[in-house]
Amino acid sequence: MGIIKLQDKRFESYISKDRIQERIKVLAEELKKDIGDDKPLFLGILNGSFIFASDLIRQCDFPLNISFVKVASYLGTKSSGSVSQLIGLNESILGKTVVVVEDIVDTGKTIEKIDALLKNSGAKRIVYVTLLFKPDAYSKNIPIDYKAFDIPNEFVVGYGLDYNGWGRNTDCIYKIVEE
Ligand code: IMP
Repeated sequence: MGIIKLQDKRFESYISKDRIQERIKVLAEELKKDIGDDKPLFLGILNGSFIFASDLIRQCDFPLNISFVKVASYLGTKSSGSVSQLIGLNESILGKTVVVVEDIVDTGKTIEKIDALLKNSGAKRIVYVTLLFKPDAYSKNIPIDYKAFDIPNEFVVGYGLDYNGWGRNTDCIYKIVEE
């Protein structure tokens, strides 16, 4: 806790380890009531969600599978524009309840790409879970089913989230000190 420095920026403690873990227990209980009988497939979105997803599934007291995937975007042909792909999704999700686990939903562009890739895959249901949600930045219509914390439009790091690749390895969340 306190202040940390990552490259040229300083960050101050924002959400403690205990508050994160308390919210994860509540989310796991809610998920159990909602999809605990469905044998869901959790899909952790890399890189940012690896810590949250691993803490969340250990609190989920029901049978589940987990895979980690990465959203890759590249420029396709002129007519197709930017094309997205889920790297690492090697199993069929036909008929399954899929729980997409994100670290943070900001504008919603990433969730929109994931939704477009998954919705024609024959999944029975797609559930979105995020650790952090920025309501003032979100501009999409896809409902985010479970959010651990709503936060203002400020840049945060820690607990999986990074600044230029740094700061993922903390057990609490920090927010930027504007200077
Ligand atoms: P979106 O597509 O705009 O919703 O943004 C999602 C991605 O932007 C996240 O998966 C993060 O990689 C990154 N991002 C957005 N806000 C933050 C932040 O405050 N800290 C660290 N990464 C962020």
